Amino acid sequence: MKESQNIITIIGCSGFIGSHLLERILNTTKAFVYGIDLNSKKIQPFISNSRFEFLKTDISDIKSIKPVLQKSSIVVSLTALCNPSLYNTVTLKVIESNYNKPVEIVKLCCEYGCRFIHFSTCEVYGRTVESYCRESTLESVLKEDETPFVTGPIHMQRWSYSSAKQLLERTIFAYGVEHALKYTIVRPFNFIGPRMDFIPGIDGEGIPRVLACFMDALIFNKPLFLVDGGKNRRCFTYIDDAVDAVMAIIKNKKIADKQVFNIGNPDNEITIEQLAYKMIGLYKELQPQKTSSLYDVKPISSLRFYGEGYQDCDRRVPDISKAQSLLGWVPHTDLDTALKKTMSAYIEHYNG
Ligand code: UGA
Repeated sequence: MKESQNIITIIGCSGFIGSHLLERILNTTKAFVYGIDLNSKKIQPFISNSRFEFLKTDISDIKSIKPVLQKSSIVVSLTALCNPSLYNTVTLKVIESNYNKPVEIVKLCCEYGCRFIHFSTCEVYGRTVESYCRESTLESVLKEDETPFVTGPIHMQRWSYSSAKQLLERTIFAYGVEHALKYTIVRPFNFIGPRMDFIPGIDGEGIPRVLACFMDALIFNKPLFLVDGGKNRRCFTYIDDAVDAVMAIIKNKKIADKQVFNIGNPDNEITIEQLAYKMIGLYKELQPQKTSSLYDVKPISSLRFYGEGYQDCDRRVPDISKAQSLLGWVPHTDLDTALKKTMSAYIEHYNG
């Protein structure tokens, strides 16, 4: 039994999800939080909180991290290179950041008896079976403990991320079976909200995820690109709903142990093409003074947009009945509300 039950370490606390989780834990619990990250840009309001200590380092810096983990009852692991434009361009770094580095944290949590709450990805499911085999009778809704993983050939490096995450999930599971690691795995489905991603050339470089790409286009009057026509679908999940789920996992220690949970909003499914037009409509509502602008929506091939080795997930709809029955969790934020809140935050932050 750990001496202190109330110490939570968030690895990746200054990222999009980490910053929201940190805020919620500090505001709604009495826990002490150690935060580990390479910078503290997104968590400035919490830096001087007496129940928070920030450690500026990389997760490979085991020597500095060890004493923090030794004191922690719960470790939430969020660090990842999780941007699709990286999977086929800096593949080795993606594998390193999503498997080699975090696996060392898994081992330490096992050694020190910490509860390990790991953020995996909905991308472990890969593509739908129907995308390869039209006559498949498998259900298209993704179930944590039943759905097979369907990715693509090795030269399609897009799947490096999915595979690294999958191997880490399998390693965590094995540590649970062979060494009694206490763990919960979360598979997030396209979380959106304030503080996500970056705008290229302003506070980051490269290609962010679709929400930020479209906001870049809307704010700075660039075309909205539909990769391969924008026919693929995603279920967007508002960050506050996602954090509700993590808090329920933290609270329900026994029930959540050795479980994998899809955390997503199946009611918020939309094609990327529909998303582009919806965001244009919402942007005009939020910024009526800019309505004279004509927003250009253009198809583009994935080869031009992402380069060689990109292959898309066609559709991923989470079955969330396990989170509902075990944790009492359901998402509440519909797509329009989630988009409006996220887009308003972008507009405020980037003077859009
Ligand atoms: C990514 C990660 O790989 C997942 O692991 C992660 O869980 C997920 O984001 C997430 O945010 O939760 P993906 O959904 O493919 O997966 O990421 P996006 O970059 O947001 O792409 C969504 C879709 O929009 C893709 O079909 C992409 O090709 C398309 N897209 C992207 C456009 O059509 N235009 C753009 O400008 C950008």
